[in-house]
Amino acid sequence: MDKTLLSKTAAAMVARGRGILAADESSGTCETRFQSIGAACTEENRRAYRGLLITTPGAEQFISGVILYDETIRQKADNGAPFPEYMANKGIIPGIKVDTGAKNLALCPGEKVTEGLDGLRERLAAYFKLGARFAKWRAVITIGEGNPTLPTHTCLYANAHALARYSALCQEASIVPIIEPEVLLDGGHSIERCEEVSEATLRATYAALAAHNVAFEHVILKASMVVSGKSCPRQAGVDEVAERTVRVLKRTVPAAQPGVVFLSGGQSDVAATAHLNAMASMKGLPWPLTFSYSRALQNPALNAWRGQAANAAAAQKEFHHRAHMNGLAAQGKWKPELERQVA
Ligand code: 13P
Repeated sequence: MDKTLLSKTAAAMVARGRGILAADESSGTCETRFQSIGAACTEENRRAYRGLLITTPGAEQFISGVILYDETIRQKADNGAPFPEYMANKGIIPGIKVDTGAKNLALCPGEKVTEGLDGLRERLAAYFKLGARFAKWRAVITIGEGNPTLPTHTCLYANAHALARYSALCQEASIVPIIEPEVLLDGGHSIERCEEVSEATLRATYAALAAHNVAFEHVILKASMVVSGKSCPRQAGVDEVAERTVRVLKRTVPAAQPGVVFLSGGQSDVAATAHLNAMASMKGLPWPLTFSYSRALQNPALNAWRGQAANAAAAQKEFHHRAHMNGLAAQGKWKPELERQVA
């Protein structure tokens, strides 16, 4: 375990004005995204699309790292360089999704537990050789009514345990773990309920990390924001989301941690930017806050690309713009007017 490398990687991931692109969609998720733009989900199309994001000129100003999928970390850019090598030359850290997906949790209807611990030590060693310096593991927590109400204690603790075992294996391999316990925004629940569940989720997660001797100095949290359920009649505004999210983080996340990144979770592109900006503007936060978006960074680029090589430059322009806006938001320097000026 190289602690100097772990510290260096973690600090670089959350360096001021930069954040992470999540481009680690599984082939199934990619299929859904590509279908929405009428593109065939072939291996070559996935390579071409990820390649255009990774090779966007100037994106490295705002992008500190990219989370890759197993297929992508083994693919090459148009110039023949393996993606991890191409990225490292640009000062972008290669990351890798290592979980194998959320599966139904036995005896807990409606809930999931994330799998992927079997053989993980060996897979991490192989990914390190391929250039990965950080990893990601996503757990999903569903909020629901009924008897019992969701999430159950069983679900929170099963996922926390897996996140902790994954994190320990990552640190052992000198790879910084991103822990992503995502509280889903689907449902009609209130923002108050989301806040309660987010707090319980993070408490369980950090208790498990401590129990497994994980060093908080070498972990990055990928948090979901505290928002109103998608179909809740009262949709909280930007300031309320920012205030509740930061309150939960302050209550649960150790100050020793190098940083917190956010997922976008199905929010609109600009809402994800506005929320980050409002939080990053707050004074006296114990950790830097930045983005690790998939959809909120990629949507405009994907729509511009439409599976056509001729649209690659237009797609890169869209990606550069969202990366720029979120880079500003991570410093509390974004304003809605900039969307129009820079677009
Ligand atoms: P979204 O930003 O689209 O929520 O994706 C983030 C992510 O990495 C999910 O695991």
